[in-house]
Amino acid sequence: MSEDSREPVFLRACQGKSVPYTPVWLMRQAGRYQPEYRAIREKVSFLELCKTPDLAAEVTVMAVEQLGVDAGIIFADILLVLEPMGLPISFPKDEGPQIERPITDAASIDALVGEIDVASLSFTCDAIRKFRTALPRKPVIGFAGAPFTLASYAIEGGGSKNYTKTKALMYSDEGAFRALMEKLTEATSRFLNAQIEAGAQVVQLFDSWAGALAPGDYRRYVLPHMKRLVASIPKKTPLITFGTGTGGFLEQLGASGASVVGIDWRVELGEARRRLPGKVLQGNLDPLVLFGPRSEVKRRVDEILAAMDGAPGHIFNLGHGILPGTPVEMVKALVSMVHEGSLR
Ligand code: CP3
Repeated sequence: MSEDSREPVFLRACQGKSVPYTPVWLMRQAGRYQPEYRAIREKVSFLELCKTPDLAAEVTVMAVEQLGVDAGIIFADILLVLEPMGLPISFPKDEGPQIERPITDAASIDALVGEIDVASLSFTCDAIRKFRTALPRKPVIGFAGAPFTLASYAIEGGGSKNYTKTKALMYSDEGAFRALMEKLTEATSRFLNAQIEAGAQVVQLFDSWAGALAPGDYRRYVLPHMKRLVASIPKKTPLITFGTGTGGFLEQLGASGASVVGIDWRVELGEARRRLPGKVLQGNLDPLVLFGPRSEVKRRVDEILAAMDGAPGHIFNLGHGILPGTPVEMVKALVSMVHEGSLR
């Protein structure tokens, strides 16, 4: 076998190369829908799980082995990077994440550290090394939050519906907002580069809440930072940029320089293909379809595969993360349907 054909299918697809079948992994593939994950969480808190490399690697490996997916995504959280920047976080039981002292003004942004010491996030890098040792044939994806989504948590103090405080700061003090985005970009770049050095072969940026923005606001307040962030990652490492509700400005996600663009279910994959010629695409099954019957899952998988028409440069995924309560059997069935349905 040639060296090239031994390259994992997921890595080949990220580069737009021909593949024997469409690779698949699922956002939040390690999580509360799994009884084994819930059992571990009865013993340790979510933050302890993230910060204990043996456990973080274990849940990452467990998801890959249980589902038969083509890549692991290292178990961590996008908010971890905020701690070394000077923003302690917590995950109260049954509530969303909380930032203890949210950003309020230019002075609190001045106090933040952009040039973080990545040694303070070494648990994620150690977990990546452990994953590579445990499953040397499976690629592992490193990840971070994209600056806008991180800014929204830092300013709102947690999840948000309308992003009132974030947009108020963005519109009323553009300089302060830019300073915040620059610090988040610097910290994120350092964290992603450290994950790559530890062995992550691909990285994904989660801009989960970018869809809250008007296209013009994304262009003005976000895109320049995304471009700098993407440019700070080694060219040989594929970078996936993912957001939800981004149908109004997909072209700009492509313009960030990311090699792969994640698409949520609100856009048809065929349309995304037309709007992002030459880009590798990832997505885009509505995660809620997994609560329906197997026949519907099959129909929707076939629809997505048909939209790609056997072209290379597609990574199958959900349009957002797997939700708690999703039947594990349906998730396993989905992976098989993608592999079998896409055999070239
Ligand atoms: O398998 C994987 O995908 C890797 C693990 C992963 C987690 N968070 C674990 C997690 C990843 C990639 C993330 C990213 C993340 N974290 C995002 C972006 C992805 C997205 O869904 O849009 C966001 C917005 C966060 C912030 C965050 N972390 C929230 C909003 C929550 C609470 C929501 C919830 O589902 O309860 C978390 C907690 C979290 N992160 C959990 C997991 C498995 C649940 C924690 C638990 O075990 O109780």
